[in-house]
Amino acid sequence: MTLTLATTAASSTTCDALVVAVMPKGKGLELAAHGITTAQSTKLLAALKTLGATGKSGEVTKVAGITGIKAPLVVAVGIGDIRKGLDLEALRVALGNAIRALAGTKKVAIAVAPEEDKLRASALGAALGAYSFTAFKSNPAKAPAPVATIVLLVPGVATDALKAVVAEVNVIADAVNLSRDLVNTPPNALVPADLALEAKKAVAGLPVKVTIWDEKALKRENCGGILAVGQGSVNPPRLTKLEYTPKGATKTLHIVGKGITFDTGGISIKPAPGMDEMKGDMGGAAAIVGAMQAIATLGLNVNVTGWIPSAENMPSGTAQRPGDVITMFGGKTVEVLNTDAEGRLVLADALGLAALEKPDLIIDAATLTGAQRVALGSRLAGVMANDDDSRALVCAAAELAGEAMWPMPLPDDLRPSIDSATADLANIGDRFGGMLSAGIFLAEFVPAGQKWVHIDIAGPSFNDKGAYGYTPKGGTGSAVRTFVQVAKGLAAE
Ligand code: BES
Ligand code: MN
Ligand code: ZN
Repeated sequence: MTLTLATTAASSTTCDALVVAVMPKGKGLELAAHGITTAQSTKLLAALKTLGATGKSGEVTKVAGITGIKAPLVVAVGIGDIRKGLDLEALRVALGNAIRALAGTKKVAIAVAPEEDKLRASALGAALGAYSFTAFKSNPAKAPAPVATIVLLVPGVATDALKAVVAEVNVIADAVNLSRDLVNTPPNALVPADLALEAKKAVAGLPVKVTIWDEKALKRENCGGILAVGQGSVNPPRLTKLEYTPKGATKTLHIVGKGITFDTGGISIKPAPGMDEMKGDMGGAAAIVGAMQAIATLGLNVNVTGWIPSAENMPSGTAQRPGDVITMFGGKTVEVLNTDAEGRLVLADALGLAALEKPDLIIDAATLTGAQRVALGSRLAGVMANDDDSRALVCAAAELAGEAMWPMPLPDDLRPSIDSATADLANIGDRFGGMLSAGIFLAEFVPAGQKWVHIDIAGPSFNDKGAYGYTPKGGTGSAVRTFVQVAKGLAAE
């Protein structure tokens, strides 16, 4: 998919389909588009009314053959009543819906809103809606291909500011779509060594240093958590470090992503229904890959290091047992009461390593708990932290970037629930508040004074239902945009 900017009038633009926005007006409709004359707009609105369009948010109505409009097809997207204030997410969703409804169409022009923030939202929604995953179809041509070219129409001149918006959206959309691809890739095609190589490939040619620890190196580094989770699989674990250190940058951000390429639960095995979705248990890692690619491509003036602790959680004769005590990076011992609570074990090692470098902020993203979905549903990520300001900073970045995330506490009263009779800690705590006790476990591996934020993306990283707005079925690319937004914020400080 390519996103470009053009200044031709909407009605005279050569394309396969023209997207315009509509909103309710009394009992009728009003057009929120530019480059369309009053006469053309009267015809268009009459046709839309006949088709039952109301302009409500999320609605998509197609009309063919409007006299005076060169595009053979006009797609009207409802954006709701913007007189009550335009929600940029509504715009992203509207354009995502339009572009998804146009799959199979080659070139689409958009004449929605030319102001910078609105253009960014429209462009992003459209670009993220132009996605499909066909790598494993023997005949990909059978399904309609996503829209290949999206032209954003602006009246007058394409200013440098608008060009920069389009360039940035292109980079971010590519990164989100890469992250989606990694999540969607079947688990037999993406074992930990593959994930490490994909991370390396994603930043090839960019100023990013890549270090990959194999199982021997992990032993040398005393990464007991990553090794224990990986020991049951014939596909050995990996730890990948991606370092972007532009000249002159003063702030340093470390981002960590859970990279379980498949989570069977291990000996504490999961039930069969839905287990296939556990190919997405590397959604956090996929977000690191996408974010590092975008941050380095955009050349943001901030040091960013990405960490991907990765393993395959399998039951076997070599797998860890419930009751095993393991020694983590940093020396703490953990009694593994449930081998299905494996994400926190691989993350703990990586958090310990990241903290050694004393960055300004560490953020991890992980498909960590089923309890996250119970608490917040499938679309809202939970944000926990050892510092209120850092948590607020991440939530604000998510809001700006258009990702649904909600602040969550790490209550002290849950801490004793991860005490172990045998070791320093147990890897599971109280079942009630399971998202929070997982966060509390992670917090034990972050040294005092080190600012850290944990994002549980178990629900939002994988859409097990139908596509909606700009979100496809399967991998969603959750957390990529928030990571990039946080990096942008630090670069501007
Ligand atoms: N990867 C799962 C969490 C998960 C569940 C992600 C559903 C996405 C969808 C994680 O490793 C896990 O199994 N967590 C356990 C923890 C429990 C044993 C304390 C869970 O949530 O059941
Ligand atoms: Mn698990
Ligand atoms: Zn898991």
